[in-house]
Amino acid sequence: ATIAVESATVDKSGHRHFMAKEMAEQPSIIQKALAAYTNEADGILNLPEGVQFNDIRRVVMVACGTAFYACQVAKYWFEQIARIPVEIDIASEFRYRDPVLERDDLLIVVSQSGETADTLAALRHVAGHVRRTLAVVNVPTSSIAREADVVMPILAGPEIGVASTKAFTAQLLSLLLLAAKAGLDRGKMNADDLTTLMSEIQAAPGLMSQALDRAQEYARIAEELAESDDVLFLGRGAMFPMALEAALKLKEISYIHAEAYAAGELKHGPIALIDKTLPVVIFAPRDVLFEKTISNMQEVMARHGQVILLTDADGAKLAGEVQNVIVMPKAPTIVAPLIYAIPAQMLAYNTALARGTDVDQPRNLAKSVTVE
Ligand code: G6P
Repeated sequence: ATIAVESATVDKSGHRHFMAKEMAEQPSIIQKALAAYTNEADGILNLPEGVQFNDIRRVVMVACGTAFYACQVAKYWFEQIARIPVEIDIASEFRYRDPVLERDDLLIVVSQSGETADTLAALRHVAGHVRRTLAVVNVPTSSIAREADVVMPILAGPEIGVASTKAFTAQLLSLLLLAAKAGLDRGKMNADDLTTLMSEIQAAPGLMSQALDRAQEYARIAEELAESDDVLFLGRGAMFPMALEAALKLKEISYIHAEAYAAGELKHGPIALIDKTLPVVIFAPRDVLFEKTISNMQEVMARHGQVILLTDADGAKLAGEVQNVIVMPKAPTIVAPLIYAIPAQMLAYNTALARGTDVDQPRNLAKSVTVE
C-alpha cells in the first residue's frame, strides 16, 4: 500500500469547527483506507510489507488517550477473530512497570501523532526484546513511525481538532484489518470467513453516514447533558471502550465530569451515584450482550436515573419504555464500534456547543503530548 500525502492546506470546508469537519469526513476516510488496504480485484487484504502473525504468540498493544481505547476495542477483535492472546496497557504505565516480554511477542503501538512521549518511550523500551514492533500511526513521518520495524498508516489525513475523532475510527479500521490478517496467518479464518468479514467491513462507511445523520437527536440530548454536572456512560464488550471514549470526549470539550463503566460493574459502586439528576448513556446494540446490558439499564431506571439508550431498531423494540432512545443503524457486531463511535463524538460535540466551550482548542489540552 502507498502512503497518501495530504496537501498541507487544511481548512474547515464550511464547517463551524475542525472537529465537525473531521467527524463528517469519517465515512469517506474509512472507505479510502479500506480501498488502500484491499486488492480491488478480489477484496483480499493488502497490508504493508512485514505485517505478519505466523511467527508470534502474543500481541502487546500500548498507547495513550483515545488511541488506547482503540487498542481496547482491538483486543476483542484479535481474540475473537484470531484467537491470539492480547495484552493492552497505557504507555505511561507499561514503560515503568517492568513488563514481561517474550521473544515471540508483537508490540503494536498506536498513536495519531506518532510523537507522544510515553508511547515513544514504550516503543524504545521494548525494541530488541520482541520479535517485531508495529506502529499504527496517522503521521507517517513521525518519530514512532521511524523507529518501529513495520508501519501501518491509518490514512486519516491531518487531524487538527484537539479531541481525536477521525483518527480514532481510522485506528479502529486498521486494527480490525490487522486482526483479520492475524486470523488468516494463524489459520483461524478461511477464505470464506474472510469474504464474510470483508463484506461486513465494507458496510461500515454507509452505516457511519447514517449514524452521522442523527444530528437533531444528538443536539436534543446534548441540551439535557449540558445542564448536568456529571454523566455516566455504560457498555459491555467492545461497547465498554466506546463508553470510555464517549466519557473522554465529553470531559475534553465540554468540561463536564463523566465516567464510564463496564455495565456489569454498575452494581459494584457507581449505582450509588444514581438519582434523578444523573444522565446515564447506555451503548446497547442488539447483540449477544444486549439483554444483560438492558437489565443494567433497568437498574438505572428503577433508581430514577435519566437513561439515554443508544441501540438499533430491534433493540429499541425490545427495550420497552425508555425516556430517551437514539436509534442507530443496525450494524454487524464486528463493525459496531465504528458506528457507535459517531454518537460518542456527536454527543460530546453538541454538548460543548450548548455550553459554548472552545471545541477545537479545549483548555489545558494539547494535540500532541511530547513530555512524559
Ligand atoms: C493527547 C490528545 C489525545 C490523544 C492522546 C494520544 O492527549 O489530546 O486526543 O488521544 O494525546 O495521542 P496520540 O497522538 O499518541 O494518538
